[in-house]
Amino acid sequence: MIDMDKANEVINRFKDLEGGLLECLHGVQQAFGYVPKETVNVMADAFNLSRAEVHGVISYYHDFKTNPEGRKVVRICQAEACQSMGSRGLTERVKDVLNIDLGDTSADGEYSLEAVYCFGNCALSPNVEIDGKLHARVSSDNFEALLKQGDGA
Ligand code: FES
Repeated sequence: MIDMDKANEVINRFKDLEGGLLECLHGVQQAFGYVPKETVNVMADAFNLSRAEVHGVISYYHDFKTNPEGRKVVRICQAEACQSMGSRGLTERVKDVLNIDLGDTSADGEYSLEAVYCFGNCALSPNVEIDGKLHARVSSDNFEALLKQGDGA
């Protein structure tokens, strides 16, 4: 259960601003590290919107997370240069290895998997960031070794 006093304090700060929902969502994410589902109803009421409308905004922007982040975050580039060098197949492999989908966190809270749309390292595609460290020219074959390195194994 999240601290609803804290959530209300953030939401009240933005609710009277015109178009304040986006800023409010950023504020909530900053406060909790993600947008807890318990806050969606409160934001819908505060901004006179339906829950579906608030969900629509959350899912439209890739920035918003709806789950707490895992201890390790794996981010895979899905933009064009990386795609042309096989990031789609690599993504499928990573999903299998971590046993989670893009945008999800594993049940044990160990890993989160996120899509990124360009790290600015296109010449060395495909790129994967593991726990804040960018790895270039990652393949389905070396991903697991890189992941283990990140574990200190
Ligand atoms: S397209 Fe992947 S780093 Fe630019």
